[in-house]
Amino acid sequence: MKILLTHIKELLQVRDTPVERLCGDQMKTLPTIKNAWLYLVDGKIDNYGTMDALPNLEADKLINCSGRTVLPTWCDSHSHLVYAGNREQEFVDRINGLSYQEIAANGGGIIHSAKKLQATSEQDLFSQSENRLNEVMRLGTGAIEIKSGYGLTLDAELKMLKVAKKLGEKHPIKVQTTFLGAHAVPPEFKNNKQGYLDHICNDMLPKVADEKLATFIDIFCEKGYFTVADTYQLLAVAKKYNLIPKIHVNQFNAIGGVEAGVQHQALSVDHLEVLTDNDLLALKGSKTMPVALPSCSYFLSIPYTPARKIIDAGLPLALATDYNPGSTPSGNMNFVVATACIKMKLTPEEAINAATINGAYAMDISGSHGSISKGKSASVIITKEIPSYAYLPYSFGSNLIEQVIINGQLMIKKI
Ligand code: NIG
Ligand code: FE
Repeated sequence: MKILLTHIKELLQVRDTPVERLCGDQMKTLPTIKNAWLYLVDGKIDNYGTMDALPNLEADKLINCSGRTVLPTWCDSHSHLVYAGNREQEFVDRINGLSYQEIAANGGGIIHSAKKLQATSEQDLFSQSENRLNEVMRLGTGAIEIKSGYGLTLDAELKMLKVAKKLGEKHPIKVQTTFLGAHAVPPEFKNNKQGYLDHICNDMLPKVADEKLATFIDIFCEKGYFTVADTYQLLAVAKKYNLIPKIHVNQFNAIGGVEAGVQHQALSVDHLEVLTDNDLLALKGSKTMPVALPSCSYFLSIPYTPARKIIDAGLPLALATDYNPGSTPSGNMNFVVATACIKMKLTPEEAINAATINGAYAMDISGSHGSISKGKSASVIITKEIPSYAYLPYSFGSNLIEQVIINGQLMIKKI
């Protein structure tokens, strides 16, 4: 299938020489081509250029993008998109004054979702999750990381990962999977956290690795969940199975998880709503990508990750949704980009870089996703007619997407 996009008002994130990730001041620049064409062949970016030098190209589908902006699809490097049911009652409880931590302590939170998921068949879980995946693809996400962590038993964790893997096989979106057995201590192991960690290390990890169900390992390193010592223990074992760490740290408390992640060559450390100078220091010179999740801060009314501090310190930053039933029931990367500009004071250039190439890095796919570069996946967003790309975060509540192409496939059917 050959798709030719012509008369593109502005083609964003064009990288002739592909980059792995962008740090600090590099994030301020978003390379673009005005009045451009883009040629997609068999699911890959074949070529691009300016309209005044458009060669004679054969196309099965011709799309006139006049007045429209085209950019690479979003790379959402942190999601819990596979889950069962919802938790809107907890949302109401929070409105009425309970905190996220109080709800969890009363048997709500992750444990509540785990109970629901354990009682849901693999097929039902697949179809609930597929609905969400279809929605995020239409919202412009072309690559997504999906975590387990609402199973908390061997069978239920495997069920989640199988569903996530199957979603990636059945749809053009790139799916990367993460094993998050250490998301919370299940009631069966109440007062025996070490027993649960041993179960993860001795029974779950070998199975996950053996069945090749995950690329990454995650742990919720937080007061009331897992300690820094637990994190060291788990990541050391996971290394034997070649699982790369991407961990939940510093959501509510800075307890040293960032340093633990960096020491284990974590690909990313995610959340960071609370960040100390020591954490910043630990990240300097490392290969670890800090990941901010502004929709989570928005929904829980907790502080936003100090993104300016991170970027101004010369560090990279990625943006992701954290799509999950408890802290972020939204997988909309457009909202994430807008909120990063509005609440975290990222410029549109920084936010788009953070949500494309740096998001791809945080999933270990920056060689194939995250920019308009020859040979990369033919995954692009075609906007509606907009005056400039700054209009995307500016007009934060509107859906400005007209078409999404993922791996060469059109996602939005027009009547
Ligand atoms: O990333 N913080 C840990 N895990 C999820 C939320 C879990 C839940 O409340 O279901 C998060 O925010
Ligand atoms: Fe999360």
